[in-house]
Amino acid sequence: MTRNHTRSAELAARAAGLTPGGVHSNVRLAGPRVFFERGEGAWLWDVDGNDYVDYLLGQGPNFLGHAPRAVNDAVAAAMRRGSVFGAQHALENDASELFLQAVGWADRVRFGVSGTESVQLALRLARAATGRRRFVRFAGHYHGWLDNVLVRTVDETTTPASAGQLDQFDQFHVLPYNDLAAVETLLAEHADDLAAILLEPVMCNSGVVPPRDGYLRGLRDLCDRHSVVLIFDEVITGFRIAPGGAADRYGVAPDLATYGKAMAGGWPVAAVAGRAELMDPIGTGEVNHSGTFNASVPACAAVAATLRQLRDDPPYDRLETHGGKLVDGLRELGTRHDVPLRAQGLPMAFHMSFGDPSPIHDLGQLDRLDLERYARFAHVLVDYGVWVAPRGIWYISAAHGEKELVAVLERVDAALAAGGGDR
Ligand SMILES: Cc1ncc(COP(=O)(O)O)c(C=O)c1O
Repeated sequence: MTRNHTRSAELAARAAGLTPGGVHSNVRLAGPRVFFERGEGAWLWDVDGNDYVDYLLGQGPNFLGHAPRAVNDAVAAAMRRGSVFGAQHALENDASELFLQAVGWADRVRFGVSGTESVQLALRLARAATGRRRFVRFAGHYHGWLDNVLVRTVDETTTPASAGQLDQFDQFHVLPYNDLAAVETLLAEHADDLAAILLEPVMCNSGVVPPRDGYLRGLRDLCDRHSVVLIFDEVITGFRIAPGGAADRYGVAPDLATYGKAMAGGWPVAAVAGRAELMDPIGTGEVNHSGTFNASVPACAAVAATLRQLRDDPPYDRLETHGGKLVDGLRELGTRHDVPLRAQGLPMAFHMSFGDPSPIHDLGQLDRLDLERYARFAHVLVDYGVWVAPRGIWYISAAHGEKELVAVLERVDAALAAGGGDR
């Protein structure tokens, strides 16, 4: 099956002369150069009129589906009164209250624009509170594209991931995820200079790897014992895997957490939340956190409308059911077509690839998978009307239902039947 992509190809050729690589985020370099016309619910339409069932969701933000009516109406109505004032407006309080109610454990929230900057604020707050400098992070976890957090780990060796990146490796220790003993050993030796432990509570940027039983609780206890700040990077998991993210789902409260993506119905909003004693130094000016577009009118309208919808019509059980059936269906297709298609995840976010079906617990074990073969398959799926990330993560939205389930399984089936899984 070959779809017509003429118009996309023309636009891609034009874009190539305008922006490096023809894309405005390097994450998209690995993706097909499709140009989209519009999205609605769980579906996308490209500029050539092709439809796609979407399990990429803009890398996560479209948790309510594309163009969610309640959010768009709230944003449009709010924007008629302006968008940034360099001062306060009442919607900020609505958004903050709904946010803190959903998160549950946190006393304060600060809104920003991107997950990347939220991580920086959280690290700064941890350093300010402890007077210590370094932090612990984990191999395979992504915390944004800035110099002090962007790394690549291959065969247990971690290096900067970009040319031009300042080497700030003396700021952090990189440990394997899901290995509590490794953290315990490091803290026993280095806690005196450790401000924070920073992690994706579910490693979603390399596979979708849940914490082992007791791992998050163990980190909590170690942080308490050594007066180290525990930071959950919930940019993917926040509001997605439970109303209060991983903290809620696994019953372990961090000291600070960062959010983005699912919180605002597709709008660019991020946040840091935390305990009052850690957050309040921002309010005295002791810790600086600034931003022209922080808590803009459309951002707060989007957060408030999204979180109201999640509170009043929680989609979590539906997502669990849809995800369960989808993962089962995909595995079944793998068996039927005799390809080692494997899935692992929660399943509101899960990871697809080819390889050994046994569970992955850390970055090193991802070696068992054929990630390149899966990336090729994701490109093939474009021609069958399935839009997914070449890196393997699938996101489900509240707008995905039976119709999408039937469509996606039929389309993946057709792609595999045509040899799309490179048998
Ligand atoms: C866990 C995590 N933290 C931080 C970020 C950075 O967020 P942003 O892309 O909004 O800067 C991401 C982005 O994917 C992420 O997945």
